[in-house]
Amino acid sequence: MSKPTFYLTTPIYFPNDKFHIGHTYTTVAADALARYKKARGYDVKFLTGTDEHGQKIERVASEKGCTPKEHVDEIVKGVLELWKLMNIENDIFIRTTDDYHVRAVAKIFRKLYDQGDIYKSTYSGAYCTPCESYFTKLQLVDGNCPDCKRPVETLEEESYFFRLSKYQDALIKHYKDNPEFVEPVSRYNEMMGFMQNGLEDLSVTRTSHKWGVPVEFDPGHVVYVWIDALSNYITALGYMSDDESEYKKYWPADVHLMAKEIVRFHSIIWPAILMALGEPLPKKIFGHGWIVFNNAKMSKSIGNVVDPVVLAGRYGADALRYFILREFSFGQDGNFTNEILVNRINADLANDLGNLLSRTVGMIEKYFGGVLPAEQTDTPHESEIIAMARETAEAVEKHMDAFAPHEALSSIWSFVSRINKYADETQPWVLVKDQANHPTLARVLYNMTESLRVTSILIEPFMPGTSPEIRRQLNMSGIFTWDSAKEFGKLPHTVSITKGATLFPRLELKKELEELTGISGGAQKTEPEESGEITIDEFAKVELKVGVVLACERVKKSDKLLKSQVKVGDETRQILSGIGKFYTPEEMVGKKVVVVTNLKPAKLMGQMSQGMLLAASTEGDTELTLISLDGDIADGSEVR
Ligand code: MSP
Repeated sequence: MSKPTFYLTTPIYFPNDKFHIGHTYTTVAADALARYKKARGYDVKFLTGTDEHGQKIERVASEKGCTPKEHVDEIVKGVLELWKLMNIENDIFIRTTDDYHVRAVAKIFRKLYDQGDIYKSTYSGAYCTPCESYFTKLQLVDGNCPDCKRPVETLEEESYFFRLSKYQDALIKHYKDNPEFVEPVSRYNEMMGFMQNGLEDLSVTRTSHKWGVPVEFDPGHVVYVWIDALSNYITALGYMSDDESEYKKYWPADVHLMAKEIVRFHSIIWPAILMALGEPLPKKIFGHGWIVFNNAKMSKSIGNVVDPVVLAGRYGADALRYFILREFSFGQDGNFTNEILVNRINADLANDLGNLLSRTVGMIEKYFGGVLPAEQTDTPHESEIIAMARETAEAVEKHMDAFAPHEALSSIWSFVSRINKYADETQPWVLVKDQANHPTLARVLYNMTESLRVTSILIEPFMPGTSPEIRRQLNMSGIFTWDSAKEFGKLPHTVSITKGATLFPRLELKKELEELTGISGGAQKTEPEESGEITIDEFAKVELKVGVVLACERVKKSDKLLKSQVKVGDETRQILSGIGKFYTPEEMVGKKVVVVTNLKPAKLMGQMSQGMLLAASTEGDTELTLISLDGDIADGSEVR
């Protein structure tokens, strides 16, 4: 009989920059789930990859002075190394720049256009100038840019639209018929509420950039990232290619995993696209929480990015995998600190699991020369342990099937603690003193060994490097099927051991925290002070100077942006500012302003901006006023 299939996916991540612990979180969770399903006998397909098109990538590449493809190639190289380091066993790695994907997206677009699900009109959208990105209403957060949280402005361009509104009723019906379609339930409710407010058609092309899949029949338009990106889940299986056998075998996906901020796209737009294509919908969308750092979302601009390469390099991939899956409740946000990480490694890995293995191996060696005798007698608490082993395996199944890896690990660690307690209760070091107790002693050590066999099976999806090491030290072979974890006593009584290195050396908290703070890219290097305070040196990094506006004009197609030529001492800079609703170009000329002069230049609406004018504004930018000087002073003067 053929195995049941299980197809799971992570988001395809934007290769803007190196990946951080947040990307690692979803991918490690998916990997653990994939390994667990394989162990349960499924034919698993596990997909991850990179979302390589779009204006942001185009901009980052131009800032770096290379082509978008050169830029993404470099980042993807690092991504593949990261997944190797983290022991990720994905079956497919898709890049949206892969030829087969580009071809399939063009066909998908054409099909939707030919059947009338895509039509041409004018797009009037929310545009975030600093991020140079359009956003749909779906994407805005409290009406602001979802990335930088700044207010957006309305801009117009010609665009193709997907008839999302047409699918509103069918989507709501699907939700009602499938109450587990989106999880956790809080996100299901949020999506339902959103749909009931009404869905608008969705702009699916752009003319503002070139880096994307071109619309074959209308040069100048490229397919916007969401159709391009979401389709990866089916193109990766060969959809719309000459060979659709994998697609037929694995689709629909059993679960799309992601964090909460992109659940809307996956649970509203994506199913609507699939309905339009006449394809089945994924079985589940699961949106986990964010790993935050000092309660702020990790972001390069905030400077609180935690580098998994540093942490895995220092503590091992399994320690990091264990930590992120155990510490954070999967559906909820969780706060990361180095201290929590080091404490968890010490408590759970060095003390509980590591200690159980080393004391078991150590006592078998010391008391029996490395081989347990066959003669053994029952011990107190034994039946409780046997029952607990089975219950633990069943609990892991229940929790993993409910996408709760943190609960699964918590159950396993309760078992590990119970076995350590069993050793303390039976006191092998006392039993050894009397030869008559040696059969009991042998059984105690056998039970500890057998518990480690069970543990090694149950932790394997989470810690694929540690399991084989436990087995190696206990010279076990051939009895590691998932179901054998429920059969305590499978191991022959005459256990022999091969002593090995300590699994997880104990860490000295103070030293680790100090060293992590000192490591470039380390987790605490850029951590802001708890109070949000900065030092005078940090403040001094911002270079502020007095400037005078020589000329000013509005930026075409923008009601917000003014382009000023600002003289700052010996140089004149072009600066774009989002102040067009509060100042006319005429008012600006001659004004003395405060300029941030060491800000990295950026392109806004295709124009370079070499600095920033300081202004004060009320919440939501309803009022805004430029910072002015109390008295005259030459331009170029420093503001300190
Ligand atoms: N390219 C889109 C996804 C398209 S999928 C068809 C995208 N890319 S992304 O690079 O921004 O990745 C977002 C995803 O990365 C999140 O949904 C989550 O899976 C993971 N995470 C990134 N930062 C995270 C945290 N700080 N915490 C948890 N997960 C995070 O959106």
